[in-house]
Amino acid sequence: MKDQEIQRLIDAARAARDCSLSPFSNFCVGAAVETEDGKIYTGCNIESASYGLTVCAERVAIWKALSEGERNFKRLAVVVDTDPLTPPCGTCRQIIWEFCRNATIILANLEDKTEIVEMRELLPRAFDARFLKDKKSDEEMPR
Ligand code: THU
Repeated sequence: MKDQEIQRLIDAARAARDCSLSPFSNFCVGAAVETEDGKIYTGCNIESASYGLTVCAERVAIWKALSEGERNFKRLAVVVDTDPLTPPCGTCRQIIWEFCRNATIILANLEDKTEIVEMRELLPRAFDARFLKDKKSDEEMPR
C-alpha cells in the first residue's frame, strides 16, 4: 500500500502538471517537493519560444521552495503521462542533488504507476560544492 504522505505529494505534483505551459512539446510535467517539516511546493514545466530558456517542473518547484526560505527537503515527486515513467533530466538531477541532497525521488504517471528511486542511482559520482573547497583563489591559478 502506498504511504499516505507519498500519495499527497504525487497528488500535488499531478495538480501542478495541469498548469504546465508546454505549447512546443505538449509534454506536461508536474513536480512537488516536500520539506522536512511536511510543507509542499509545486512546479510545472514552463516553455519559452527560444526553447533553450524552458524550465523544468522540478526546478520550478525547487526554486519556489528555496526562495521562500526552505532549505531541507525529504522527497520530490514528478508526474508525467508516460509509461515507462519519466525521470528528472540531467540538469534537474544536478540541481536536486545540490539542494535536496539525498531526497527520495518518486516517479509517477496518470495511471497511478509509481516508482521510488534514490539520487545516488540517478546521479552517481556527483559533482558539488565539496570539490570547490580547496580551490586556489583566482590569483594563484595559472593562466
Ligand atoms: N521536462 C521537465 O519538466 N522535467 C524533466 O525532468 C524532463 C523534461 C520538460 C521540459 C520541456 O518543457 C518538456 O519537458 C520536454 O522536454
